[in-house]
Amino acid sequence: MAFPPAFIDELVQRNPIEDVVGQYVSLKRSGANLFGLCPFHGEKTASFSVNPDKGIYYCFGCHKGGGPVNFMMEIEGLSYPDAVRSLAKRAGMEVPEDEKYQSRYRQQERLWALNKEAARFFNAQLYTEAGAQGLAYAQKRGMPKSILTKFGIGFAPDSWSALTDAMRKKGYSDQELRDANLVSDKNGHIYDRFRNRLMFPIIDVRGNVIGFGGRVMDDSTPKYLNSTDTLVFNKRKNLFAMNYAKKTKMGYIILVEGYMDAIALHQYGFDCAVASLGTSLTEDQATLLSKYTDQVVLIYDGDEAGQNATRRAIPMLERAGLQVKVLKMRDAKDPDEYLKKFGADKFKVLLEQSSNRVEYQLGAIAKKYDISQDDQRVKYIQECAELISTLPSPVQREVYSGRVAERAKISLDAMKLEVNKCFKRRMARERRQQEKQELSPAKNLQPKSRSIRYDNIASAMAEETVIAMAMRENALLDRIGMLTPQSFSSPLLGKVFGQMLSRHSQGLEVSPAVLEELEGDEMSHIAYVCQRQQGPISEQAFADCVRKVLDEHAKRSVTSADALMALRNKMKESKGIK
Ligand code: GTP
Ligand code: MN
Repeated sequence: MAFPPAFIDELVQRNPIEDVVGQYVSLKRSGANLFGLCPFHGEKTASFSVNPDKGIYYCFGCHKGGGPVNFMMEIEGLSYPDAVRSLAKRAGMEVPEDEKYQSRYRQQERLWALNKEAARFFNAQLYTEAGAQGLAYAQKRGMPKSILTKFGIGFAPDSWSALTDAMRKKGYSDQELRDANLVSDKNGHIYDRFRNRLMFPIIDVRGNVIGFGGRVMDDSTPKYLNSTDTLVFNKRKNLFAMNYAKKTKMGYIILVEGYMDAIALHQYGFDCAVASLGTSLTEDQATLLSKYTDQVVLIYDGDEAGQNATRRAIPMLERAGLQVKVLKMRDAKDPDEYLKKFGADKFKVLLEQSSNRVEYQLGAIAKKYDISQDDQRVKYIQECAELISTLPSPVQREVYSGRVAERAKISLDAMKLEVNKCFKRRMARERRQQEKQELSPAKNLQPKSRSIRYDNIASAMAEETVIAMAMRENALLDRIGMLTPQSFSSPLLGKVFGQMLSRHSQGLEVSPAVLEELEGDEMSHIAYVCQRQQGPISEQAFADCVRKVLDEHAKRSVTSADALMALRNKMKESKGIK
């Protein structure tokens, strides 16, 4: 354990969950719980619960949960020690720094500082002889000095050691250069990883330089060399230019594919543009966007890859609670080229014409069929009806049905009938699925997070109850008989039980909020287990569950011992035959 348990106890006590959450979410009391709109996913009815007695929050919609430390980690994107530090600051407490965390935190700070120095170095190169061609290229691409400065764009000279030498001089070690992924390694000798490239620093929402993208200045490949993930950089969790876009007053965020596109948009006054980092959009990026806006305009390249990427991104953004509009690029391959050809005003018109995702998808379906042919027209109508039937609002369904009917030259009534048919078919399908799930209750009892699986559901249910009851009534931990963490069938529940015992034996209070060393989804699951347990606690019920866990464990031990014995006998036999 990294921070002393007694310190974490005080920290949790002095940061009541309802106060910590209350800084971000407005909460209303309902019985023992407070409810509000979940800050982690878009929703219109409050499924986010806070239980002051247990010191935890849990969202019944997106299944995130935990104590005040987990909340800070999740909402501010902090590491565990940083979340602890921020809560300590809030409560005016001094943090006893653990060596392990301190060194990790120091290491991060060093990498941020190193990246910043490297960005400065690259930027300064633009204005030297070695960087003249970099500057010329940037100018050729239409980037004025103000933009180069704003984005910290720079140039990596055509040299094996220019950056390495400069950073060594500033006191950074070779290992630190490796850790930052700024150098490559050959037989223990390091050399500059980025050479003869225009450099784009990647900056996180808190303003730290966390990585780089480097572009060649001709047609050679790879066109972009990007930092691989490091202690401070995760390309799936960050977005280029988010540090600026998060402050926009436009009311939406524009998501594009390329660094150059995001930069051009900012340059032409669209201060709400961000770009992904050379991967397709991830859930984490969608969630990040949803922290700062509720509407996203997708502008991917007009080619097929861009269209496919759009199709994949739409549901991901919608799942994060975002309203999605799609701008279809015309007369240019990407926003950068468009802005430079036609200017900001024309682009604004394009932006105003951007369609919501339904219009966009209907358009994409229309492209697939030649509706002057009867058989294709039927297919077109059916596919559109399928899409329209998924819309939650009857008004939307009516409006889009009308449009398709008009286009396909059929009556609105016929179209509505088709949509209705699709709707009913889907409902039936969903009902069948629901029934199937209800018929296999074991599946329902599995944790919501797919990374946690119970091998033995019967035992795990009893294990959950043991934990949930003992969290509420710590004295029950004196009544566990022979039960040990090893008796648990679920490694996660066993680990939690072990922590509970260890705290209890030190005379410390045990609550979900003080658990440590759990992954986010593990903590969410434990919060769920505790939040679900609302009824009265009885010693008898507790004892029954303890017995159940021990019985199941005994069964497993017997079977494995039996299996071992059988195997031994078999081996003996086969030897005997030989
Ligand atoms: P320009 O071609 O200079 O206008 O750059 P762009 O930003 O428009 O790039 P493009 O649309 O070709 O690619 C979009 C994004 O994909 C880039 O910004 C990079 O993040 C990423 N990307 C493109 N090419 C490569 C590559 O060769 N390797 C990697 N790792 N990423 C790439
Ligand atoms: Mn481009």
